[in-house]
Amino acid sequence: MKFIIANWKSHKNVNETKEWLNTFLQYEYIQKPTNIRIIICPPFSLLSYVKEKTLEYPHLNVGAQDISQYPEGAYTGEMNGKSLQGLADYVIIGHSERRMYQKENDEICLQKYSRALEFGLIPIYCISSIQQPIPKNAQFVAYEPIESIGSGNPQNIDSVVTFYHNLAQKPKTAFIYGGSVNQSNINSYLNNSIIDGVLIGTASLSPTTFYSLIDSFLQKK
Ligand code: PGA
Repeated sequence: MKFIIANWKSHKNVNETKEWLNTFLQYEYIQKPTNIRIIICPPFSLLSYVKEKTLEYPHLNVGAQDISQYPEGAYTGEMNGKSLQGLADYVIIGHSERRMYQKENDEICLQKYSRALEFGLIPIYCISSIQQPIPKNAQFVAYEPIESIGSGNPQNIDSVVTFYHNLAQKPKTAFIYGGSVNQSNINSYLNNSIIDGVLIGTASLSPTTFYSLIDSFLQKK
């Protein structure tokens, strides 16, 4: 089983999401189950819509891009774990853009990790360097080197594998790579037995492009 995760970041409104899904859901490998699991992570405001539209596709899941470190309570604007229940199956935690723009440090990310577990969400815990701590027993760990995100400069497979071998603690379920994954390099990652999935930003924004990556993998193009 390989995981292909779409991180839409802060892109799309309802109409654009509708168009994306209308196109994407009609593709062959989306209609019939395969040995991949696709996790779509839209902005919070679109979670409900995406969840509803993808319910009947057993190999499609929905993920949130973040979760509050606080519980339910007087925290205006926060999206806590309880509010995500039923809307998301997975949650991305500690993406380097949040660490950078929202000043989330390791302590906050680890709190968010605990909140996710409390509410039955599966955390996809992102790190960009070997120094960043990983929660004990983390199921999904995503290696997201900052210089490769959105830059068109992906890490080569050897450096991703080396990063994995240097991890003091290996993820229980899946080791994910993210950073400029595209149609021409996706197989170099997914064909490697160490790598269980990819996290895709830019190339997930167009349903056609995103599907072409999936198709490349499944057809071994
Ligand atoms: P990218 O983003 O595919 O645009 O490089 C990856 C990420 O941020 O996870």
